[in-house]
Amino acid sequence: MCNDIEKVLIPKEEIATIVKNLGEQITKDFLGEELIVVCILKGSCIFFSDLVREIKLDVKFDFMVLSSYGNSTTSSKDVKIIKDLSENIKGKNVLIVEDIIDSGRTIKSLTELLMVREPKCLKVVTMLDKPERREVDIVTDYNGKVIPDEFVIGYGLDYAQNYRNLKDICVLSPSVYIK
Ligand code: IMP
Ligand code: MG
Repeated sequence: MCNDIEKVLIPKEEIATIVKNLGEQITKDFLGEELIVVCILKGSCIFFSDLVREIKLDVKFDFMVLSSYGNSTTSSKDVKIIKDLSENIKGKNVLIVEDIIDSGRTIKSLTELLMVREPKCLKVVTMLDKPERREVDIVTDYNGKVIPDEFVIGYGLDYAQNYRNLKDICVLSPSVYIK
């Protein structure tokens, strides 16, 4: 596994600071309100678990599974819901928790789809943002860190379902996917 890592991009100490700051901003913005925090599985699970503990509000958890990359490092154009929310979000404050925004297609489709359900407010927090790769216009409300156009693994992020349990966010060695 160590040979597959090109370098550490964001060490765990920096991740903790980023997540704490995001939690503080979210707490401030929703003071006195309830929030449904939506974890987009599987990539966001670790970020979600850390982030919700930095949000000092009444929160409820919900989970969604969307169609994924398969074993590729590039995005598919079609986003499908594999597992939907378990609660109705009409009139509720909803925060979508994403691991990374790449082309922007996943978050664009997802927000369009959830807006139809008439939440009181729908916001997006992402741990990472790769703006160089954007294919569609999207707005994120809370951004952890902007990163360059490199394929990253760890802190929940995978390549072919591996490396999610790395504590740091690392750049995957291209030798793993360029044969
Ligand atoms: P988008 O629809 O192209 O914005 O893709 C977003 C999804 O692609 C993320 O939720 C991740 O699951 C996956 N993804 C994009 N870039 C990376 C990466 O560098 N490492 C791991 N997964 C990635
Ligand atoms: Mg994802």
